[in-house]
Amino acid sequence: MHFTFTVNGTERQVTAGDGRSLLDVLREDLGITGPKLGCGEGACGACTVLIGRRAVTSCITPAAEAAGQRVTTVEGLAEDGVLHPVQQAWLEQGAMQCGYCTPGWLTATAALLNRVTRPDDARIAAELSGNVCRCCTYPRILRAVRRAAELMEQPELLEPVPPTASGSPGPVGGTGALPWDQARDAASFFEQLPDGLVTVVAEDAEAGAEAVPGRWGGPDDAWVHVGADGSVTAFTGKVEAGQGTRTALGALVAEELAVPPGSVRVVMGNTDVSPFDLGTFGSRSMPYAAPPLRAAAAAARELLREAAAQRFGLPAADLTVAGGIVAGPDGAPSAAYPELLAGVRRVERVPVDGPVTPPADWRSAGRPRGRPAGATWSPASSASRPTCAPTACCTAACCAPRRSAPRCAAPTPRPPRPCPA
Ligand code: FES
Ligand code: FES
Repeated sequence: MHFTFTVNGTERQVTAGDGRSLLDVLREDLGITGPKLGCGEGACGACTVLIGRRAVTSCITPAAEAAGQRVTTVEGLAEDGVLHPVQQAWLEQGAMQCGYCTPGWLTATAALLNRVTRPDDARIAAELSGNVCRCCTYPRILRAVRRAAELMEQPELLEPVPPTASGSPGPVGGTGALPWDQARDAASFFEQLPDGLVTVVAEDAEAGAEAVPGRWGGPDDAWVHVGADGSVTAFTGKVEAGQGTRTALGALVAEELAVPPGSVRVVMGNTDVSPFDLGTFGSRSMPYAAPPLRAAAAAARELLREAAAQRFGLPAADLTVAGGIVAGPDGAPSAAYPELLAGVRRVERVPVDGPVTPPADWRSAGRPRGRPAGATWSPASSASRPTCAPTACCTAACCAPRRSAPRCAAPTPRPPRPCPA
């Protein structure tokens, strides 16, 4: 079916076969990654968008339902360079932890406040019952909804939209076209990254196949970039919600790549540039994310070893790799990674089951690194501080991404929002 609709103020034409959801079309055909896929069955609200002024869960809304309609995603809430009240309220209240659920809350709340001027807490709980926050930021979310209601009546308090990641300096912002997991060619990586080597573990791609025809993204995918500028960046769809996942994944990548611990930047959960994941699932972060990242890093190390072997005219097996330097017998000749990657733009698919370093042979991963000088920890300041008291909140019932009511939030148990379909 071919149809036209207006997305965030721009008319778009799409062809969508039967059974394709609005979320699929927004994310995959149009590259609009604000709406997130969480449950995929209308139960979590992560995919919420507006059709007209009505909030719908786009994962279960047929794309054809949007024909001729005006669709607004979180990207389209701000107008004339000014934050929407819900956006400003969420920022003011810090009503997010990983942020995966946030686009859905913002659009759902915008729809609510378009209909109800000053909803009380019971109304907020009832109206937003279809949105779930796995990080359990419900108390702040409730405060943010109340604040957004105030700001709806005080537009003079609204602030300008801050610069986006893609509009700010730095090598990783967004492709500006399709997310990387849908990129059609290897050059997409180097529109945003310095020259270097990218190794990709893609669940649905054959190792060694021609780079990047089609979709890569999935919970088990990862990619690692080793830059000619000396940078190392690991991309995963997992998110850090205060459990130390970022640190642990960075340590594993550093181990496999034989670079100093702490030198790896981990980019997580940014669905413009990272593999697409299906939610936060913090308890599965390391089991899901670590194997592909380790495989990608180990493969990158071996590709760099081979590049050095060719340059030195020596067998790769005779070379050692440590500290980001590949060295021949007795340390000479040697080349640092940036030297091997100058002028290189290479993307390689590598298997997830490639050889990695056995834990018994780890040199840095798994070892204490000590606290940075001057660093202190207190429950009040720690980034890992739970949003609410652990005994009241962080239980399976609270954090399950389904209809169960959050124990720690002011909202009371409520029925799920009716499916728009
Ligand atoms: S992804 Fe659509 S409601 Fe959960
Ligand atoms: S902030 Fe809501 S799921 Fe993480």
